[in-house]
Amino acid sequence: MRMKPKLQPMRKTMTEENEPLLLDHEADGIRELDNQLPRWWVWLFNATIFFAGAYMLYYHVFDRGLLMEDEYRLEMAEGEKLKQAALERFEKEMMNMQPSQDPEVLAEGKQIFLTNCAPCHRADGGGQVGPNLCDDYWIHGSEFKDNLRTISNGVPEKGMVTWKTLLKPTQIYAVASYIYTLRGSNPPNPKPPENQAPAEPEVNPYE
Ligand code: HEC
Repeated sequence: MRMKPKLQPMRKTMTEENEPLLLDHEADGIRELDNQLPRWWVWLFNATIFFAGAYMLYYHVFDRGLLMEDEYRLEMAEGEKLKQAALERFEKEMMNMQPSQDPEVLAEGKQIFLTNCAPCHRADGGGQVGPNLCDDYWIHGSEFKDNLRTISNGVPEKGMVTWKTLLKPTQIYAVASYIYTLRGSNPPNPKPPENQAPAEPEVNPYE
């Protein structure tokens, strides 16, 4: 083992004679000591060089490892699969669902309604661009499951958003449960019922 150089007491000036570690170059009056680097430091340094080489071969030369972008893509695909499975399950269960009475679910539903639906259906559900959700007239069916289906699939050609692409099944359930509580609430100046008259039977003038 080499002996560690003893710490020298501070001196006013260092010279080659009194400081054997002093290098002989100088910049702006600053001179450098050629200290022996601690062995652990040198090993660490060597290890980083080895790591960099191994990393490059593994990831970039032989393409064995997944780079961040591939990992991201894989995880997104995995997430998409989970989402599709959850949606399919939701669509199967939809037929038998009952509106929630849980105040927490209803509060969440109200929040979702005010943020996403109120611009078209009005904050009190009285209707604006979208129809009144408080009366007994329904374009797409009056049952809870009809509401769930309409909200989930939307009516894109009429301007009702396909919410399953934006909301989670639990959120659709919450907001549907909330609007269920608006039924019969009679808000002022509601949008009049629409599309309610059954289609006129076509009259053949030659009959
Ligand atoms: C961009 C405007 C818009 C937004 C936002 C919107 N809707 Fe609609 N919604 C409509 C329109 C328009 C219709 C009528 C579709 C039709 O005529 O077939 C509708 C229909 C519906 C119906 C069916 C009504 C019936 O008579 O059968 C329900 C239920 C409904 N929306 C709920 C919601 C909920 C819940 C949200 C929020 C998550 C929402 N809507 C957000 C425009 C919107």
